[in-house]
Amino acid sequence: MAITAGVIGCGNISRFHFSGLEKAGVTVKWVCDLDETAARPWADRFGAAYAPDYREILADPEVDLVDITAFSYKEMCMAAVTAGKAVICEKTLAENAEDAAEIVRRAESAGTIFYTSYMKRFIPAVEKAKALLPRLGCIVSTHIRTHQCWGDLWSEAPDSGPFHTPDGGMSEVRRRYGGGILACGGSHILDLVLYLIGRPRRLYASVAIPADRDYDLQATALLETNHGIVLCEALAHPLRRIGFLRDGWDERVEINGTNGRLEVFSAQWDKVETNASLLVHYDNTTGQATEYRYAPVSPFDRAIAFFCENIARGEQGAQSRRTGYDVDELIETMVRSSQEHKALAVRWRL
Ligand SMILES: NC(=O)c1ccc[n+]([C@@H]2O[C@H](COP(=O)([O-])OP(=O)(O)OC[C@H]3O[C@@H](n4cnc5c(N)ncnc54)[C@H](O)[C@@H]3O)[C@@H](O)[C@H]2O)c1
Repeated sequence: MAITAGVIGCGNISRFHFSGLEKAGVTVKWVCDLDETAARPWADRFGAAYAPDYREILADPEVDLVDITAFSYKEMCMAAVTAGKAVICEKTLAENAEDAAEIVRRAESAGTIFYTSYMKRFIPAVEKAKALLPRLGCIVSTHIRTHQCWGDLWSEAPDSGPFHTPDGGMSEVRRRYGGGILACGGSHILDLVLYLIGRPRRLYASVAIPADRDYDLQATALLETNHGIVLCEALAHPLRRIGFLRDGWDERVEINGTNGRLEVFSAQWDKVETNASLLVHYDNTTGQATEYRYAPVSPFDRAIAFFCENIARGEQGAQSRRTGYDVDELIETMVRSSQEHKALAVRWRL
């Protein structure tokens, strides 16, 4: 089945979604943004119509798929599912776990196809790591972290820009992304925990929100899973030349089992077209370490290709509708654990 789509939100991230849709052969019939100047170049490129109001797209019976990258997801997702459309939604899915659960419940009961676009699952090094997991034997310990260079936000609070929290107001980072490093980078590594290790049952977390800010700069958690302990950290730091590519981006996964270790070093999210990720597999039987290096490839393109193949077949396929909810539940539990200074069971509501 040929797919006809509408894209809601034409900001920074949208170019990766447009690229994926174009490569998947999807007809982009509509583009929507409150800001017409953001949408126009895409409307021109795809010969698409511009809609200032996303409901116009949902009312079009020719539209099979709605790709949402505008950060007002609950209302848009609920309406798109109710209109019977397949949905690809950027992360994080909602501002709290109950809203995320509500969206997913509606998609599950309507039987519509629904994806939250956690694209790091589609990094070739991550996919290969997943395939090699059985070679590790019993998994006992996982370390996963995203250390991102955000400049020096620790010494003092900025008095302007996206990280400025105005008196009685909201910082841009909170308004546009739902929070600081936990929502921006932590959400991705929590998704990788869910993908590679499984759902944690209990966690203890510390989330550092400096005074006079409404966003966090560090979120650290110890997660108990059925496959051992996971240590997880998202950190905004000022160090420009750390990380395996020495570009300030230091994101890695290390999984240790009774018969080996897997290490993934992943490239900066918006440089994926030029920088590739790396996987190292150490096998304890042979004593050999094997490096897997791949040509740079956009995980956004790969994710959208996978979603569209399923949509064309009318199937949800291997990625659950619950992906975005699962991450939001973990984020909420981490924040609560930090506030209450205690370990908490994760109360999965789905
Ligand atoms: N996967 C990743 O690695 C990654 C990276 C960056 C951002 N993101 C996510 O992508 C989303 C968007 O981020 P961004 O950097 O593109 O933000 P952005 O602010 O640049 O773009 C959002 C766009 O949505 C439009 N918009 C907002 N409300 C709208 C509405 N009601 N109707 C129509 N248009 C509306 C805005 O005008 C804006 O152009 C966020 O959820 C963010 O968390 C994901």
